[in-house]
Amino acid sequence: MAGSIAIVTGAAGDIGRAISLRLASDHDHVLLVDLDGDAAERAARAMGSADRFEAFACDITDTAQLERLAARAAALGTLSTLVNNAGAARAVSLHETTPDIWRMDNQLNLEAAYLTFRALAEQLKASRGSLINIASVNGLNVFGHPAYSAAKAGLIHFTRLVAVEYGKFGIRANAVAPGTVRTQAWEARAAANPNVFEEARRWYPLQKVVDPEDVAEAVAFLASPLARAISGVCLPVDCGLTAGQAELARTFSQSEHY
Ligand SMILES: NC(=O)c1ccc[n+]([C@@H]2O[C@H](COP(=O)([O-])OP(=O)(O)OC[C@H]3O[C@@H](n4cnc5c(N)ncnc54)[C@H](O)[C@@H]3O)[C@@H](O)[C@H]2O)c1
Repeated sequence: MAGSIAIVTGAAGDIGRAISLRLASDHDHVLLVDLDGDAAERAARAMGSADRFEAFACDITDTAQLERLAARAAALGTLSTLVNNAGAARAVSLHETTPDIWRMDNQLNLEAAYLTFRALAEQLKASRGSLINIASVNGLNVFGHPAYSAAKAGLIHFTRLVAVEYGKFGIRANAVAPGTVRTQAWEARAAANPNVFEEARRWYPLQKVVDPEDVAEAVAFLASPLARAISGVCLPVDCGLTAGQAELARTFSQSEHY
C-alpha cells in the first residue's frame, strides 16, 4: 500500500489506538480522528513521527468538519482504508432510554458512520479502498444498551448496503463485532462492580474477554489483500460469545461435557 492512508475515527480511545498502531504496518500515514483533539494528538505522538501518525480533531456527526477531514486526507495521499470506530452507549435499558438518548446513540453509532463514508466515498472509489465499521455483538443479540444496540444492528446493515452498491467500484465493506473489550468505555461499570470482567468471562466460550489488539488484528486482516474476496460480512471478534453459551448448553442437554 505505497503512499496510502488509513483513517481511524475515535482513534484516541483504546480500540482506536490499537487499530491505528496496527494499520501503520500496512499504510504510510494514519489519520487519528477524534472529537478530543488533544487526546488524539497525545496518542499520535506516543505512536511515532508526525509524518506517519497525524491527529485530526473532528466531530464526525458534523458534515462541515467531515468535509475538512476529506480535504486533509486528499492532500495527504491516497485513502486506502476508512475505519468507522467512534462509538458510545448511553443508557443500559429501554426503561432508562429517553428520546434524546435514542437519537444521540443513533447519531453517533449509525448516522455518523454514514456521514463519514459519504464524505470520503469518492476517495475510496478512486483507490478501490476498504471500509471497516466497528459494530458490536450488541448489534447481533440482546446484551443491554438498547439504543446503542439498535444503531449497531443498523451499522451492520449499512455495511451490506455499501458492499452491494459500491462493490462495482472495487470498494469492500465489512464490519467487526467485538465482544467485551476492557477499555475506558467500561470505567463506570468497573467502578460500580470491580468484578465485572470476571463475571463477563464466564459467558465466553474461550473464558476470556477481548483485547483491543484482537480487534485491531481483525481490522488489519479485513483491510489487507488477504481479504480481497471478502465483502459485506460481519466478523465477530468475541471469544465465541455469539456461538452460544456452555452453561446454557449444559442445562439444555444435561451433559457434563459442556
Ligand atoms: N469496549 C467494548 O467492550 C466494545 C465492545 C464492542 C464494540 N465496541 C465498539 O468499539 C468502538 C471503540 O470503543 P472503545 O471501547 O475504544 O471506546 P472509547 O470510549 O475508549 O473510545 C471512543 C472514542 O470515540 C471518540 N468520539 C466520541 N464521539 C465522537 C465524535 N462525535 N466524533 C469523533 N470522535 C468521537 C471519543 O472521544 C473516544 O476517544 C466503539 O464503536 C464501540 O461501540 C466496544
